[in-house]
Amino acid sequence: MTDFDVRAAVAGEYDDVQGVFGGAMMFDPSPDDVSRRLFEPERALVATDGAAIIGTTRALTRDLSVPGAVVPAAHVTGVGVRPIHRRRGVMAELIVRQLREVPEAIAVLWASEPGIYGRFGYGAAAWGTSYEIDLRRVGPPDVRIRPGEITELTADDAIKELAPILRSLQERRPGVSGRSELRWEGHLQDKKDDRDGRTARQIVVHRDETGTVDGYALWRGKLEWSHAGPANQVMLEELVSLTPAAYKALWHYVLTLDLAATLGYGYAAMDEPLQQLVVTPTALNRRVNESLWVRVTDVVRALGQRRYAVPVDLVLDVTDELMPANAGRFRLTADGPKVLCERTEDAADLSLSVTELGATYLGGRPLAEFAATGRVTEQTPGAIDSATAAFAWPVLPVSLEIF
Ligand SMILES: CC(C)(COP(=O)(O)OP(=O)(O)OC[C@H]1O[C@@H](n2cnc3c(N)ncnc32)[C@H](O)[C@@H]1OP(=O)(O)O)[C@@H](O)C(=O)NCCC(=O)NCCS
Repeated sequence: MTDFDVRAAVAGEYDDVQGVFGGAMMFDPSPDDVSRRLFEPERALVATDGAAIIGTTRALTRDLSVPGAVVPAAHVTGVGVRPIHRRRGVMAELIVRQLREVPEAIAVLWASEPGIYGRFGYGAAAWGTSYEIDLRRVGPPDVRIRPGEITELTADDAIKELAPILRSLQERRPGVSGRSELRWEGHLQDKKDDRDGRTARQIVVHRDETGTVDGYALWRGKLEWSHAGPANQVMLEELVSLTPAAYKALWHYVLTLDLAATLGYGYAAMDEPLQQLVVTPTALNRRVNESLWVRVTDVVRALGQRRYAVPVDLVLDVTDELMPANAGRFRLTADGPKVLCERTEDAADLSLSVTELGATYLGGRPLAEFAATGRVTEQTPGAIDSATAAFAWPVLPVSLEIF
């Protein structure tokens, strides 16, 4: 029995929705004009008890890079239930309804806790790496930066230079969320309240010999003084580069800032090449965390819209407890850009649930990993090896922002 209702939000409810989410996550929201304009009320669901909103979830209209393509992906965010209304099925009702309503073939999210979303068919599809770099031990990359190679930009000038770099990264690496101009504006806002004692955001770009921008870094610093002298902290927010020269020069720049003792970065890839550049890779102090979770909401469209690393022709038997209409047998045939996924009556080559499909969708987790625990089984010998090779991707996924 439920004692709450669920409906779409309406325009003008942003502050209430954000208030419930902030209360659930334990932060005080500071809504601003850009976030209000980014609010899509028709894509937000609220649970209500009488007139009061007690739970929320939102889907953002954004695209995402997947192996070989950039596709629409419902970016799920703002999931929260007021403390006094928890463990009564409010979130479950919101999330299941959201999954059934999103028009995109996949939904993606970052989870506050890894135990929450597996039950809804989300699979952990990308691992991220975070660094807490000991700058005194790590040793600078062996590069020399020429004068003029790295320059500073103001936020006003940055969007037009940075946006094409991120779009190009999407063509190279899965897991990267696209940003509209308004979203870039939000991303580069620099409200004093949000700085947590750090400096204003610094924006630096790398230019090639022709002056074209081919990489950028966003960072902040914090003055710290220990009994041994200066121990400033660098917080790297984002570093994107399109060429080896830009990669090396930008990392050299942030790793060699005077007075700094540590550099924190939360969005490195699992195959981040940084360890090749430094003298002491253990001083990177790497930590692995789940980043993007993927939920396949429409198997035919989802499998048909990505590319596969090697040719494949397999029948997958997919189960989906929450969305039976999404379950069944599907023949996937792919050879380079020719990809077809369609329902079939043919016998299955391998069986799995929509959760494993989501986990392997970005090419970051081998399907064979799930065979070891019986979550993927094969009816045709060799099917798991073929599927594992096809779903894998040479470049691992990375998600550059918690949305
Ligand atoms: C996480 C949260 C949204 C859950 O809301 P809720 O309405 O209490 O969840 P439900 O009652 O619908 O729970 C559905 C199931 O998920 C489980 N669950 C809920 N929160 C969980 C958690 N943090 N970890 C693991 N399982 C959880 C419940 O036990 C229940 O399991 P069951 O079906 O086996 O009984 C709520 O606790 C919250 O707002 N937390 C703080 C904010 C947050 O972390 N939001 C998520 C942002 S990504």
